[in-house]
Amino acid sequence: MSIYFNISKFPHDPILGLTEEFNKDPRKIKLNLGVGVYLDEDGKIPVLNSVAAASNIIFDLFKNRGGYLPIGGVTKHTELVKTLLLGAERSINSHNKLTTVQALGGTGGLRLGAELLKRVIPSTSVYISNPSWENHRNIFEAAGFPVKEYPYYNPENNSLNMADYLDTLRHVPSRSVIVLHACCHNPTGIDPSKAQWTEILNVFKEKGHIPFLDLAYQGFNGTVEEDAEVVRLFSESLETVFIANSFSKNMSLYGERIGACTVSAANTKDQQKILSHLKNIIRGIYSSPPSFGQQIVSQILEKDNLRNQWEEELKHMRSRIVRIRNSLFLQLQEKNLNLDLSFIKKQKGMFSYSGLSAQHVDKLKYDYGIYVLSSGRICMAAINDSNLEYVAESIASVLEGS
Ligand code: LMR
Repeated sequence: MSIYFNISKFPHDPILGLTEEFNKDPRKIKLNLGVGVYLDEDGKIPVLNSVAAASNIIFDLFKNRGGYLPIGGVTKHTELVKTLLLGAERSINSHNKLTTVQALGGTGGLRLGAELLKRVIPSTSVYISNPSWENHRNIFEAAGFPVKEYPYYNPENNSLNMADYLDTLRHVPSRSVIVLHACCHNPTGIDPSKAQWTEILNVFKEKGHIPFLDLAYQGFNGTVEEDAEVVRLFSESLETVFIANSFSKNMSLYGERIGACTVSAANTKDQQKILSHLKNIIRGIYSSPPSFGQQIVSQILEKDNLRNQWEEELKHMRSRIVRIRNSLFLQLQEKNLNLDLSFIKKQKGMFSYSGLSAQHVDKLKYDYGIYVLSSGRICMAAINDSNLEYVAESIASVLEGS
């Protein structure tokens, strides 16, 4: 008898599984607005000029490359990442509180942190926002935690449900792990204001909750400095903070799998323990990290000319998304749908939480070849001037038909 008799086939991943389905779709006219990948005006994943310049430097260094990287990554690289998170002007003390290890993208950063948490507070629960990035639940459940939700989104007025959010954080057991989207909330595109973040932080202080900040879209709402503000606020105000960050979107380095896991400690002794456990976790899963992505990131963060070029390119990406948001809104407005769609313009980051139902989403896929997540999340970064009209007309027709 097969050893697999007691497992059934696992459902497709709601995001990457949709891309697999999209790739198999034989139709000529089709569009993937599901996965969170930035495409340029020509519908291509850009190679940033800053990344291309960094690759040339690295190619020259390739002859003298070493063997395996250290288990937690190269210290010079992890220090540069720490500075990107905390800011160059932050005190040496706050830098010293943090331990950063290289990770396989933001997902890898979350999983390493989750595995460490499981070793130190195994019986706690992890709370994610409702809704949240589809993979958050999977990551923390895979590490052995029960995953519960806190209210986040109010569909009636497309806004943050702040009252229920705070109320839930106040009533869940102390020292719970709470996953926060540090900017560009995925999927809603709705972030708390500065004042609201301070209110949220105050509940963390009252209850001793542990924030796990997911910073996957740094630079897609404001500058990289502005988008790190929440990470800085929490890491300066609380003793225990976990951070996962990613260079997939902001450097357009998806397949290179480059990100980090950063954990704060109150003292050097704890810091040494944290690093030793993170290294042990890494060694037991994939041994040591890949080299190419970290070299690109280090070159860009280290060299002023590349850093400035990168920040300009990032500014271009976020401005293009804002322009597309406005254009999609205007195009839909012209269809006289009798709906208030102004939220499309206000949402932050790569996505629009469109309010499209699962039926709308199915119709978009089957009738128009447009792939959107079943939650109604649309990747705005895959829309451009050439496909905008088709997208607006297709959305309008599924809305009209409902
Ligand atoms: C997304 O949300 O679409 C991206 O972060 C890609 C992924 O890994 O799910």
